[in-house]
Amino acid sequence: MDNVRKTAFSGVQPTGRITLGNYLGAIRNWRPLQDEYNCLYCVVDLHSLTVTQVPAELRKNTMDLVALYIACGIDPDKSSLFIQSHVHEHAELTWILDTIAYVGEMNRMTQFKDKSRKHADNINMGLMNYPVLMASDILLYQTDLVPVGKDQLQHLELARNLAERFNNRYSPTFVVPEALCFQNGCSIKSLQEPTAKMSKSDPNENAVITLFDDPDTIRRKLRRAVTDCCSEVRFAEDKPAISNLLTIYSLTADESIADAEKRFDGCGYGVFKDAVADAVISVVEPIQREQKRLAADKSYLENVLKQGAEQAERTARKTLDKVYRKIGLIGRVR
Ligand code: TRP
Repeated sequence: MDNVRKTAFSGVQPTGRITLGNYLGAIRNWRPLQDEYNCLYCVVDLHSLTVTQVPAELRKNTMDLVALYIACGIDPDKSSLFIQSHVHEHAELTWILDTIAYVGEMNRMTQFKDKSRKHADNINMGLMNYPVLMASDILLYQTDLVPVGKDQLQHLELARNLAERFNNRYSPTFVVPEALCFQNGCSIKSLQEPTAKMSKSDPNENAVITLFDDPDTIRRKLRRAVTDCCSEVRFAEDKPAISNLLTIYSLTADESIADAEKRFDGCGYGVFKDAVADAVISVVEPIQREQKRLAADKSYLENVLKQGAEQAERTARKTLDKVYRKIGLIGRVR
C-alpha cells in the first residue's frame, strides 16, 4: 500500500435488497475516492448474520454484491475489494475491542434498540456486538475516512471512542477515523412514510426502490409514492414526501433542487413522478446490466476477491500483531 495516501474504508451488508438509498447515500460516493485514497471496500457478511439468514441466499447475495460494487465503479486494480469473513482479523479484533467496550454504551446504540424491537424473537449477542465488529473493520486498516450514510454516524462515533480508549490505555495504536458524509444522498426516505429512512428491511415493498428492481417496478413504486398536499413541486420541511422525491430526482438527473423546482413548476405530481422514474431508471439500468454480466463470471470475481483479501490481510495482520503485543499477549514463535 501507498503510505502517503490516506485510507478510506466502507462496507455494505449482503442482504440482497441494496436500496437506492444505500446507493445514493454511500456506494455512489465511493468511486471518486479511489484516485485519492487507499480504498478498501468490503462486503460485510459477518454483520448480516445478526439477523436470520438462509445460507444459500446469503451465498448468492454476497457474490451479487461483489459484482454490484464493481458495476458501481469500484475498480479492483485501484481498491481492495474483499469479503469480511475472508480476513479473520476482523473477528479477532472484535474480541479484543469487546473487552474495552461497555455494556452500557452498547445498550444505548439506536440501531441496536431499533433492531431489537423489530426482531424481538432474536435479540442475539451478535446484534448487540454489531457496532464493535464495525469498529474493528475500520480500525484494522488505520482508516482515516469512512464514507457512510448519516444513519451510521453513531456507529462511527463508537469506533472513534474505542480507538481513543485503547490509545489512552496502552499507547497510540489506532488512527481515529472521521466520517465522510455526503449531504444530500445521506437521507433518502421511504416512499410510503417519508419521515423514515428508506430501509432494506422495510416489510412494505412499495416503500423501497432496490438496485435490483426492473424499470417497470421502479416506475410503479414511484407512481404509488405518497405525496403532500397542494400539488406543488417544492422542497420544504412541511412537504417531506415531495422533498424526498426532489432529492432523488436531483441526485439521479444531476440537476440542482432549485432548477428541478423550476422545471416542474405547475406540472402536477403525475408528470413529476414519471420524470423521477426516468431519472432513476437511467442511473440504475446500466448498473444492473453490468452487474448481471459480472455476476455470471465467477472465476473473475473469485480472482478479484483473492487479491482483495490478500491486500487487506497484510495491513490487518500488522495492526492485530501490534494490538496483541500492547495488551500483553505473547507472540507465537513460528
Ligand atoms: N453498518 C453499516 C451499514 O449498515 C455497514 C458496515 C459494516 C460498515 N462495517 C462497516 C460501514 C465499516 C462502514 C465501515 O451500513
